[in-house]
Amino acid sequence: MEKLRAAITAVHAWVPDYVLTNQELETMVETNDEWIQTRTGIKERRILKEPGEGTSKIGVESVNGLLKKRGISADEIDLLICATTTPDLVFPATANIICDKVGAKNAFGYDLSAACSGFLFALVTGSKFIESGQYKKVVVVGADKMSAIIDYTDRATCIIFGDGGGAVLLEPNTEGYGVYDSILKSDGNGRHYLHQKAGGSVKPPTHATVDAREHFVYQEGQTVFKFAVKGMADVSAEIMERNHLKAEDIAWLVPHQANKRIIDATASRMGVGMEKVMLNIQKYGNTTNGTLPLCLWEWEKQLHKGDNLILSAFGGGFTWGSIYLKWAYNS
Ligand code: UT7
Repeated sequence: MEKLRAAITAVHAWVPDYVLTNQELETMVETNDEWIQTRTGIKERRILKEPGEGTSKIGVESVNGLLKKRGISADEIDLLICATTTPDLVFPATANIICDKVGAKNAFGYDLSAACSGFLFALVTGSKFIESGQYKKVVVVGADKMSAIIDYTDRATCIIFGDGGGAVLLEPNTEGYGVYDSILKSDGNGRHYLHQKAGGSVKPPTHATVDAREHFVYQEGQTVFKFAVKGMADVSAEIMERNHLKAEDIAWLVPHQANKRIIDATASRMGVGMEKVMLNIQKYGNTTNGTLPLCLWEWEKQLHKGDNLILSAFGGGFTWGSIYLKWAYNS
């Protein structure tokens, strides 16, 4: 019997119906489809427009789909971790709201905040609960309603982000499948280049902070870009090296979808051809915590038991990291 590992045993994701195209953005800010596609790879993104709905809507749809697929009921969930940067409320945690709405009565839940690396960090955290032997079914949600914190008069950020997300179920595996290794990193000095200026305890919301548009994402794009290229490529190469993986051993790279150029650089550093890279940024843009589960969901049918996957992300904080796992099922 192999060592006890946490394996992904189901995945589901959800995006809202409304499609915000580059053409529509051209009517809102001084930009154009060609610039957006060349600089980012994005053609369109989804926006959650339903009044009264927040990130938990994405989580609930994803978790309900996940439970149906796996054929289990909500009260079998032991723990639900929600990685998000756009919680429904400052408190309580969106994880609790999702648990309540899906009927996960026996689960405890909490949110995890690590910006675009949140799902990766939460997947590692959830895996440790499984590896402890104490928990049998852990759900990890990665979801964001980025449109809630995006300034649609700022062309440097509004073209990038979208709404959406997904969820995975983690279960114990002793047959050699699941999470093998992870590298997680953070550098708080990076906070200066990507953050939301007001709404937290340093600068609680006031009329003045709202008037100054400080409740929106602030990003120094070029600086973040440079750190992201280096961070994501370094950590992906490092996890390959220390697990003695060559490019041909890797079935799929599952990268955070922030900018196609960052993904290209990471794949090239790993020596992995683009045919092995999950890429859906053109359809969804950057959904922050949603990108990795959205990729796994879209590619699920092409994944085979035993496939080596490298998941990598970089985000605000700065935070970044990589996971090496062996896929556990054929769908
Ligand atoms: O997921 C979390 C982590 N975030 C990231 O990884 C994002 C990292 N950064 C990026 O992806 C890129 O920096 C951006 C997509 C945000 C920007 O692309 P860039 O190639 O770094 O553009 P830039 O900021 O250097 O701007 C180049 C030019 C500027 O004009 P000048 O000064 O050369 O005349 C900008 O004013 O493009 C202009 N520009 C635009 N033009 C048309 C900036 N935004 C736009 C726009 N449409 N939307």
